[in-house]
Amino acid sequence: MKIAVIGTGYVGLVTGTCLAETGNNVICVDIVEDKINKMKSGILPIYEPGLDILFHRNIEQGRLNFTTNLADAIKDAVIIFLALPTPPGGDGKADLSYVLGAAKDIANLITDYKVIVTKSTVPVGTADKVKAVFKENTLIDVDVVSNPEFLREGVAVEDFMKPDRVVVGSSSEKARKLMEELYGPYVRSGNPVIFMDERSSELTKYAANSFLATKITFMNEVANLCELVGADVDMVRKGIGSDARIGKRFLFPGIGYGGSCFPKDVQALAMSSKEYDYSFKILDAVMDVNQTQKLKIVEKMIKYYNGDLSGKKFALWGLAFKPETDDIREAPALYIIDELTKAGAEVVAYDPEAMENVKKMKGDVLSFVENPYDALKDADALIIATEWQLFRNPDFDLMEKNLKSKVIFDGRNLYDLHKMIDLGYYYNSIGRATVES
Ligand code: UDX
Repeated sequence: MKIAVIGTGYVGLVTGTCLAETGNNVICVDIVEDKINKMKSGILPIYEPGLDILFHRNIEQGRLNFTTNLADAIKDAVIIFLALPTPPGGDGKADLSYVLGAAKDIANLITDYKVIVTKSTVPVGTADKVKAVFKENTLIDVDVVSNPEFLREGVAVEDFMKPDRVVVGSSSEKARKLMEELYGPYVRSGNPVIFMDERSSELTKYAANSFLATKITFMNEVANLCELVGADVDMVRKGIGSDARIGKRFLFPGIGYGGSCFPKDVQALAMSSKEYDYSFKILDAVMDVNQTQKLKIVEKMIKYYNGDLSGKKFALWGLAFKPETDDIREAPALYIIDELTKAGAEVVAYDPEAMENVKKMKGDVLSFVENPYDALKDADALIIATEWQLFRNPDFDLMEKNLKSKVIFDGRNLYDLHKMIDLGYYYNSIGRATVES
């Protein structure tokens, strides 16, 4: 099939590349010329495991192309994906100007039937707004489909190629058939393509992300309570996760959820509910708890150092909001850096992928090293903010040699408590007993 993908951000690029991989002819469009030129010469602008192989293969085999010319891209396309940003506007609601602007441009260019697919996370009712834009600007017949993405950064290729489910919101039989054909190769193992109306599909995306954010937040609160009552959250997690109704996944407590989706989507769902005079109370609590959870680790440090962090030097392992990505959007590490440096502490950070991004944003308030053990040199403590695999089994001898004091504040529960006792550390993690050797 001939496909156009408008917007080459994270979602557009993964979508375009993975659609080319099953034999479709894909043209990706963006207004940023420099980005398009780089991609034409084979430079992938994002870090996502496994994407580069598919990206290069499909460019070489001619199925994946890039352009800044919208007219060229959509001329022969049957399906046009809109993968444009929907940032929170000043009022906290998703800003639809990019999506609706592109819809207008497309409407003014098309000369034959198209399926227009909204891939961006958009508020309920957006498909209707897109339909209205086409009605106002063209007489050509189009179908507008909602097809939310459920891609986790770090495993986005796997999520696209083997989805648990594909959700398609469409009231048109013709569009449904085309979407079913398009996604057929991805659901061969029997996972469903779930067809529904556009509004249900739009809400499905927000409900899924808000539910997951709530699940994590619930566990963060359980962890906080564990610390107070002397229980171990790892045990509680295993105890409840074995109940199939609860499930084992997304029960890991930490320093709050971050990233480009959960914070934005929880906020947008809470705000848009208010438009319908409905107060989605649980989401207000989720946002509130998540904000305080990000800074819990700093609170613990302030207590440990008797209220004075000035002149202290801290090593920070992990900057990305989660492992296997260089994405630092809403990363808890950024909040931790701000609080520590405001309190007069020095921060030396290491992250395998995200250091460049943090340098651009906060290069003047902290320093960076190319090796995790260099960050530990003369540090008063180590703080762990992202659970990268390479932090899970570190060289404890070298760690001890470099650290000034054997103190670890672990926001991701990476180490076994007995091991920390044996190694003689002060070890403070989330929802577990503090090791005070
Ligand atoms: C999420 C959704 O999972 C995906 O379906 C959606 O389309 C986009 O948003 P992503 O933001 O890439 O994906 O990351 P995810 O793996 O879901 O993690 C989100 C945040 O939750 C991270 O900050 C992570 O550290 C945190 N998290 C996750 C926990 O704190 N505990 C957990 O058990 C799981």
